[in-house]
Amino acid sequence: MSFAWTRLVGSESFRLTAIFTAVIAVAMLVLMALVYAITHQALQTELLSAIDRDIAAIKSGYRSQGISEAKEVITQHLYHSASSDFLLLETPSGKELAGNLPGMTPRLGKFFLNLPPQSPGRKERAHHILGVGLMLTPGLYLFDGRDLDLVHDAEEDELAAFLWVLAVSLVLATGGGLVLSHLFLARMDEISQTCRAIMAGRFADRVPERGTDDELGRLVHTINAMLDRISGLMENVEQISSDIAHDMRAPLTHLHHHLERALTEARSEEQYRGAIEEALAETERLLATFHALLKIGQLEEAIDVRTLPRLDLSHLLGEMADIYRPVAEDSGHILTAGVTPGLWVHGDRTLLAQLIANLIENARAHTPSGSHIRLAAAATDSHVVMTVCDDGPGIPKAERERVFRRFYRLERSRTTPGTGLGLPLVAAIVRYHGGTIELDDNAPGLIVRIRLARA
Ligand SMILES: Nc1ncnc2c1ncn2[C@@H]1O[C@H](COP(=O)(O)OP(=O)(O)OP(=O)(O)O)[C@@H](O)[C@H]1O
Ligand SMILES: [Mg+2]
Repeated sequence: MSFAWTRLVGSESFRLTAIFTAVIAVAMLVLMALVYAITHQALQTELLSAIDRDIAAIKSGYRSQGISEAKEVITQHLYHSASSDFLLLETPSGKELAGNLPGMTPRLGKFFLNLPPQSPGRKERAHHILGVGLMLTPGLYLFDGRDLDLVHDAEEDELAAFLWVLAVSLVLATGGGLVLSHLFLARMDEISQTCRAIMAGRFADRVPERGTDDELGRLVHTINAMLDRISGLMENVEQISSDIAHDMRAPLTHLHHHLERALTEARSEEQYRGAIEEALAETERLLATFHALLKIGQLEEAIDVRTLPRLDLSHLLGEMADIYRPVAEDSGHILTAGVTPGLWVHGDRTLLAQLIANLIENARAHTPSGSHIRLAAAATDSHVVMTVCDDGPGIPKAERERVFRRFYRLERSRTTPGTGLGLPLVAAIVRYHGGTIELDDNAPGLIVRIRLARA
């Protein structure tokens, strides 16, 4: 508990809450001080204007009927008004003529007056008075004042209300801040728990997503997407490693036996030479397999194909047809081409050449002598459609997905040379270029159809 508390207090969100609360407190204090000053001023103004009205009445009494009327007005006023009114009419010598105040030295204008209790024995309290002193005539001093107790009481009530509001707001701001920071920390904890789980080897774990589109929701989503990406890459690496380990063992073992046998059985230089040549061919095949596997691994992810240079696919297909026509003839195949000129795509020249070569090689290797191989390409609105067809045995429908798996070869091809990496590499190159590939029936034979975006 104390750990959680320390963590909460030390957290960024808590610091923000504290700052936020402090700002609220300061703003409220300023506001309260302002309201207090304004009401204080308004109350005093109200008192002074009441005093002014009294003085005007006394003055008018004095002017109409002399000193006796002024005294009468004062007496009447004191009789009718509240006990908070204090009046005095006196001669300059201090002789009290009317009112409820003891005689005093005349002071003119607005001033405050502290009046000690009149009769202390009766628990009477002192009065704090605001009043105005003036000379009615040179021989007559008038003081009219009001006890400030009422004002003080109102101000005290106001202050008490202010303090309550302040206290409640601070409690709410702090409580709210604590709850919010706790929720925030809880989600942070989920993230770090997931990270720890992944570090401990549970690579499939993900931070729970709540489907919210706030900053944290987006962070969690990004983290999960990143983890997906990393695990995809890891799977890819694992797959390649296990493929290599799996597929290299047999040919390496074969090579080993082969060399061993040559060492024990070969007698003449001729035999040694033959054994070495065979071993060399074997290592070349091994290296080719290595190369293909690594290439497939590298091409696993699609890129933005528009970052690749523009390339004349028609031209490349023409070149490939020219290169492979004699090779096809050597094995008794007939290679023809029907390519619309000027088909441009964004692409890697070497990879696309490899793709075309693999498909022609397949059509050559997996069809009987005398078969036709046709290379064609045409354009649709947005794509270039390239096909490599033959009239050999084709690939049964059920096998058309499987031949894209690494090392997968049809049963009937077990005896022909090859590793089963040609089509997976073709598929990887197509994926890398953001294209699609499908295998179809040429009745008889196989059609490989590839779509690439036009440049
Ligand atoms: N044109 C084709 N006609 C018939 N079967 C084919 C054709 N192309 C491919 N296949 C079948 O698909 C399998 C996989 O082809 P893939 O190119 O991946 O491997 P491979 O040709 O056997 O070996 P390599 O790694 O040398 O290319 C082949 O073994 C073959 O059985
Ligand atoms: Mg092949």
